Amino acid sequence: MQSYRLEEFGDIGKLVAREVPMPEPGANQILVRVRATSLNRRDTMILNGTYPLAPRTGTVPLSDGAGEVVAVGDDVTRFAVGDRVTGSYFARWIDGRMHPGIIDQLGCTLDGMLSEYALLDEQWAVRLPDHLSWQEAATFTCAGLTAWSALTGAEIPKPGQWVLVIGSGGVALFALQFAKLMGCRVAAVTSRAEKADRLRALGADLVVASAETPEWGMNLREATGGIDLVVETGGPAAFPQSLIASALYGRIVLLTVQDKNGKSIEIQGAVYQRSLVTIGRLFVGSRGGLEAMLAAVATHRLKPVIDKVFPFAKTREAYRYFEQGDVFGKVVIDGA
Ligand SMILES: NC(=O)c1ccc[n+]([C@@H]2O[C@H](COP(=O)([O-])OP(=O)(O)OC[C@H]3O[C@@H](n4cnc5c(N)ncnc54)[C@H](OP(=O)(O)O)[C@@H]3O)[C@@H](O)[C@H]2O)c1
Repeated sequence: MQSYRLEEFGDIGKLVAREVPMPEPGANQILVRVRATSLNRRDTMILNGTYPLAPRTGTVPLSDGAGEVVAVGDDVTRFAVGDRVTGSYFARWIDGRMHPGIIDQLGCTLDGMLSEYALLDEQWAVRLPDHLSWQEAATFTCAGLTAWSALTGAEIPKPGQWVLVIGSGGVALFALQFAKLMGCRVAAVTSRAEKADRLRALGADLVVASAETPEWGMNLREATGGIDLVVETGGPAAFPQSLIASALYGRIVLLTVQDKNGKSIEIQGAVYQRSLVTIGRLFVGSRGGLEAMLAAVATHRLKPVIDKVFPFAKTREAYRYFEQGDVFGKVVIDGA
C-alpha cells in the first residue's frame, strides 16, 4: 500500500510516498481504508519543523482523515467491519483534562492518516455521521473540534450573544457555523473584502474587511455593544483589535499565540486595564468532545466548507496551496 512519510523536516521535498507492507490489526486495533484526509496549520508547522511538539521521524502525517473499517483485532468491541470512522487528534485523550501523559497526536508522534490504510487503536477513533461524504467527514478532527471546544469548553455563549471569528480558515468557518447553531450572532473579520458575501452566506451577521478598516476593534465594539466571545485565530496582528472589540466581561479564546515569523501577541496594558476580559487557551479537544461535536453535526446535518480537493498523488501541491494561506475553508486530499 501507498503511505506518505515525513522522513526529515524542513520543506515539502521531505514528504515522500512509499510502498509499504499492508499492516495487520493487533488485538485492540482497527484497520481503516482511508478515503480522504485534510490539512491544518499544524501540518505545515510539523513539516517545517516549527511545531511545539517534536514529531517522530518517519511518521505518517495528518491528524484528519475519514475511512471505513476493513479489519478488526480479536478484542475490538467499539467497531465492526464497514463502520465509517475518523481519528481523534490527541489519540489517548478520552475525556476530562489534558495532562502530559496523553499528549500523543495523530500525524505527529503517532502515525496519522495520509496513507491508503491506517492502523488505529480502537480507542483512537470515533464513528462518523451518515450524511457526510468522505471528503466532508475528513475535516472535523482538528479545526472542527478546536472551534467546538472554543464555543463549548468553558462557558457556552447564550443565544443572541456576539461571537467574533477571524479569517476564513477551517477553525474560523467551523466556529461561525457552530455559533449560528447555538443561536448566537456572528461578526467576522477578513483580510479579503471579496470574501464578505461568502461569510454572510454562511450566516455572519456582520463582516468587517480589515484592509479597509484596520482599527476594526472599536468599529465592532460600537456595532455590537461588545463581543462576548472571540475565537482568536488572528494572532499578533489581530489580538489588540480583538481586545478592543470585546465586551467588558467578554472572553477571548486565544488559539494563535505567535505568527509564522515568530512574533508573539502583546497585551496592551492601557487597553486591558479598562477591561475584565478573560483570556483562555485550549488544545483542540478530547475524544469526548469530538463525539459531542459529531452528534451536533449529525443532528443539524451540518456540512463543512471545503475550499479545494486534491488527489492523493498531488499531496505536495495540496500542502503548497494550503501554505500560501488564502483559503476559504478546508483543503482536502482524496484517498489513494
Ligand atoms: N490551540 C489550538 O488548539 C489550535 C487548533 C487549531 C488551530 N489553531 C490555530 O488557529 C489558527 C487558524 O488555523 P486554521 O487552520 O483554521 O486557519 P489558517 O489556515 O491558519 O488561516 C487561514 C486564514 O487566515 C487568514 N489570513 C491571515 N493572514 C493571512 C496571510 N498572511 N495570508 C493569507 N491568509 C491569511 C485568511 O483569512 P482571510 O482571507 O479571511 O483574512 C485565511 O483564510 C492557526 O494559527 C492555528 O495554528 C490552534
